[in-house]
Amino acid sequence: MILLTTPSQSPLIGELTPPGDKSISHRALIFSSLARGESQIEGLLIAEDVTATANACRQLGALIELEGGHTRVRGTGEKGLKAPGCALDMGNSGTAMRLLAGVLSAQPFKSELIGDESLSRRPMRRIVDPLSRMGARIETSPGGTAPLCIDGNPGLRGIEYHLPVASAQIKSCLLLSGLYAAGRTCVIEPQKSRDHTERMLPVFGVQLEQPCCVTGGSKLTAAHVNVPADISSAAFFLAGAAIVPGSDILVRNVGLNPTRDGILRVLQAMGADVEVGNHRVFGAEPVGDIRVCYSRFMEGITIPEEWVPSLIDELPVIMAMAAVTSGTTRIRGATELRVKESDRLSVMAQGLTALGVRLQEYEDGIDITGGGVQGGEADGAGDHRCAMSFAILGQVANGPVLVRGARQISTSYPEFAEHLLALGGNVKVQAVSPPV
Ligand code: S3P
Repeated sequence: MILLTTPSQSPLIGELTPPGDKSISHRALIFSSLARGESQIEGLLIAEDVTATANACRQLGALIELEGGHTRVRGTGEKGLKAPGCALDMGNSGTAMRLLAGVLSAQPFKSELIGDESLSRRPMRRIVDPLSRMGARIETSPGGTAPLCIDGNPGLRGIEYHLPVASAQIKSCLLLSGLYAAGRTCVIEPQKSRDHTERMLPVFGVQLEQPCCVTGGSKLTAAHVNVPADISSAAFFLAGAAIVPGSDILVRNVGLNPTRDGILRVLQAMGADVEVGNHRVFGAEPVGDIRVCYSRFMEGITIPEEWVPSLIDELPVIMAMAAVTSGTTRIRGATELRVKESDRLSVMAQGLTALGVRLQEYEDGIDITGGGVQGGEADGAGDHRCAMSFAILGQVANGPVLVRGARQISTSYPEFAEHLLALGGNVKVQAVSPPV
């Protein structure tokens, strides 16, 4: 799929509710599948990544029914999963693969987790090493990537594990396997990563001990989860409104978990006109409405490294914003971007360079000097967040921007182009015919 954007003749104006939070949606499905009884999920993200998790949970025995925005899950109970008849395909989703690997390592059956080309390049030793210390038996490719062939071991032992990087996927994988392991499993992080697992497990009746420990044998009981709108999807429009002259948008029901809200701090520090109001809670997660108006006073900043975990998925769109704000934006401590759905530092650096942006790429970050963007072609390289970031930048370029490699937008935000158009943005979606 290709997106063709032409500079917005009009500002971005209006209200928007982005789709459900992807991280919370994966967890809601997995936890409900492991729970006894029927769970209800409101506002689940309906997009390819979460569909991969839903399909895998069905193959493992959960009954999942979707009706409008409402999802019912009849779980198997934590001991009731059944051996899947074939490999579980996690598509593009690292979260689905890593979290389910934690569960499957402890089951009394064999299973195999596979993924698409991008997921099959992503590092899995980061979960396989600690899981093996717990007694898991997992084979990877020689490079430590998927497919993961898991010979489940119901006799796992709890461990204390110091994460080498701040990663909610590793942390959640280990907490899930820890639910089945003898004794306690504790995870210690170098910096706090998103804490949706720690917030949601108690909703399903599992008590965590501080700081981040579970005890094997804990039972999950069915629950009701209300999924907030995804701040990572909202981020494209928050950034867009800040840089498209005359814009004024209100984004509703956005998850404001403090481990995810770094984009708001960056917008404010850059001089954007941002207001957050209507604070409330959806279950264990804080939520609010965010208004952003265009600001002519946006300036580049040095992003403090300690903010990086709380805005890791928003860095591509922050790089896009930096291309049109005055001064230089400096990002460091972001090596993790190299092992996301693509090498996001390299994909963004190449795309921005193709659009005439001045930048310097580093192993762990990038410096971007704002000064405007010219029309041209940028390749999202099959990475949803890079493709959407280029499409937002296309709204303020000096000419049309063609965004290639945009098909994977449907992994997290299938309605992106429709929402951009509804706010007054300019985007055309072109299908690419498959090679003959
Ligand atoms: C996620 C954790 C983060 C994030 C990803 C979703 C999660 O990855 O980038 O999009 O749902 O746990 P890491 O755990 O690799 O940092």
